[in-house]
Parts: sequence; C-alpha cells; structure tokens
Amino acid sequence: MSGARIGDESAAERNKKPIFDALAPWLRQAKSLLEVGAGDATHALYAGERLPQLAWQTSEAPAHHRRLVAALADRHETRLAPPLALDVRHAWPDVTYDAVYGANVAHIMDWAAVEALFAGAASHLSTAGLLCLYGPFKRPGENLAPGNREFDAALRARDPAMGLRAVDALDALATSGHMRRVADIAMPSNNRLLIWQRD
Ligand SMILES: C[S@@+](CC[C@H](N)C(=O)[O-])C[C@H]1O[C@@H](n2cnc3c(N)ncnc32)[C@H](O)[C@@H]1O
Repeated sequence: MSGARIGDESAAERNKKPIFDALAPWLRQAKSLLEVGAGDATHALYAGERLPQLAWQTSEAPAHHRRLVAALADRHETRLAPPLALDVRHAWPDVTYDAVYGANVAHIMDWAAVEALFAGAASHLSTAGLLCLYGPFKRPGENLAPGNREFDAALRARDPAMGLRAVDALDALATSGHMRRVADIAMPSNNRLLIWQRD
C-alpha cells in the first residue's frame, strides 16, 4: 500500500497527522503557505488548527476548484482564506510565501507541470522559504517497494504523463531555482516528505 490514490479522500484523513507531525517543526517560523492541489483541504484544516500563526492558502487546479470550495463550505470553514484556482503551469498570484506545499501532486501532474511547480515555488518563496512535497517518490539507488511499483504502473497505464518522480530529477529542478534539498523524511506506507529550501 502506498500514498494517496487519485480521489482517495480517506488517505488524506489517514495521513494528515503523520504529515503534520513531520512538517510542523519546519513551519514554526513560517507566516504564509501556499498549498497546491489541495484536494478537499483535509491537510489545511488539520494544520490550520494547530499552527494558528500560519496563513495557509489552499489552491486547486481550476477543474477541481469548485469541489474544494464546496468542501470548505460543507465544513463551515471560515478561518481559511478562500481557495485560489491555480494551475501551477499558469500565472501564480503576485504574492511571496514562506512555504509551498503539495501532497500527492508530483506523480499526478505531467512533467511540464512539475517543472512549473518548482519554477513557481522558486520565484514565489521568500528567502529561505521551503518547498515541501509529500508522496511516493523514486529514490536513487533504491528499488520501489512493491506497492509503489504497482501504483506507478497503474498511473502510467492510465496516463503516460503521470508516474512517480525521481528525487534526483526533482533536485535538479530545485537547483535550477536556487533551492537545495534540506530533508528527505521517511513516512508511513513508503511515502516521503521532501523539503527544499530557497537560498
Ligand atoms: C491525488 S490528488 C491529491 C489531493 C490532496 N493534496 C491529497 O493529498 O489528498 C492530486 C491533485 O493534484 C492536482 N493537480 C494536478 N495537476 C495540477 C496542476 N497542473 N496544477 C494544480 N494542481 C494540479 C489535482 O487537481 C488533484 O487535486
């Protein structure tokens, strides 16, 4: 079993605490965070209650934005700012964030979108800001766990542009954006939390 599958909302419920526990120490000084591909905002709601100093801005690709807005309305959520409709390949808000976060997005986005995500983070992070990605990844010199191998094959069968991303390829994108990886944290079910920091 690996990370959240497409549309698997219960996975977001299941993994919100371990993600938050790993992420929180990195966000203690952060005042603002942009979440890309926020799904139903499960992580934003959980973190928002626990890190009240952090303005957590959710966003979703336009095709799924309405679902995110509805999810927040269903929960009578008023503390979070209204979600942005943001496709990472297009214009980002003219705002600087202390962190950019995405859970289970890199293997769903096509590679051009992953490149755009790193470029967008590089140009919208404050100095020493953090890009944090959670999910299953391919680590150099390691075979994928069987569950992740099956997941990768299923994604590619569905759409050849999807698939688990290699950490070293992401590191190269980060380097181009003057970011360097500062953490690679093992998470349950063969997931990782990867963090890059802007110079
Ligand atoms: C597997 S879901 C993860 C949802 C949520 N983060 C979670 O962990 O439950 C992947 C998300 O990536 C978003 N996504 C895919 N391509 C995107 C793009 N180009 N820009 C922004 N979001 C994108 C999808 O809309 C979807 O919500």
